[in-house]
Amino acid sequence: MAAAPLLEVSDLHASYGEIEALHGIALGVERGAIVALLGANGAGKTSTLRAITGVVKTKGTVRFGGNALNGHGPEDAARLGIAHVPEGRGTMGALTVWENLMLGAYTRRDRKRVLGSYERVVGYFPWLAERKKQLAGTLSGGEQQMLAIARGLMMEPQLMLLDEPSLGLAPIVVREIFALLKTINARDGVSILVAEQNTTVALEAATHAYVLETGRIVVSGESQALLRDDGIRRSYLGY
Ligand SMILES: Nc1ncnc2c1ncn2[C@@H]1O[C@H](COP(=O)(O)OP(=O)(O)O)[C@@H](O)[C@H]1O
Ligand SMILES: [Mg+2]
Repeated sequence: MAAAPLLEVSDLHASYGEIEALHGIALGVERGAIVALLGANGAGKTSTLRAITGVVKTKGTVRFGGNALNGHGPEDAARLGIAHVPEGRGTMGALTVWENLMLGAYTRRDRKRVLGSYERVVGYFPWLAERKKQLAGTLSGGEQQMLAIARGLMMEPQLMLLDEPSLGLAPIVVREIFALLKTINARDGVSILVAEQNTTVALEAATHAYVLETGRIVVSGESQALLRDDGIRRSYLGY
């Protein structure tokens, strides 16, 4: 029997008050995989990521590394090893780069190991060390996105959830960020679930992809197969 996926979601529903945004999502992320969650504006990408970490009200099953996550909040998800890099990056503009990074390690008590994580993160983003004291709000959009990813890595996650890391960034910066994600995935084995509207970049980085439409998964499969299928490309990927 194959090992269970690191993240296993089934029949996931999410609501905002009376309004149901997700109508029964099923998806999986294998250990060490990069998986893309695609879909237009309003399709339910953010709601799916929020439902996984328990930020919104949900029904259904979320299992992570064999544990049921349902009914737990974002702190529990973080403690179990899920780093959520939210839409709009979530960096604190009035705090320094260093303070933002330390916020990422808030669930960890062992200072020495936190400093070890810092050294590792700086290996990916060397400029962070030089800008430790700079206020995050004065960084460029791309730098803020990298800081948000670095902050997520500070909790030594097994899984990173990334919500539209490409949003508002120039294509060259987007490519740089996805290249870094691939390196982090390959070197540290961090599994990644990335929500994107930038289909091409996401499919090139991911092994598998799910396409959302109005709160439902309408297509899923291996990225390469989705890229090769002209019908799927035109109908669901929008180019
Ligand atoms: N805070 C909220 N309150 C009410 N409805 C929301 C809220 N956030 C999202 N929605 C609705 O849920 C649906 C999915 O949104 P969302 O998950 O943000 O999609 P995406 O991230 O793919 O753009 C949309 O119809 C959106 O209007
Ligand atoms: Mg969104």
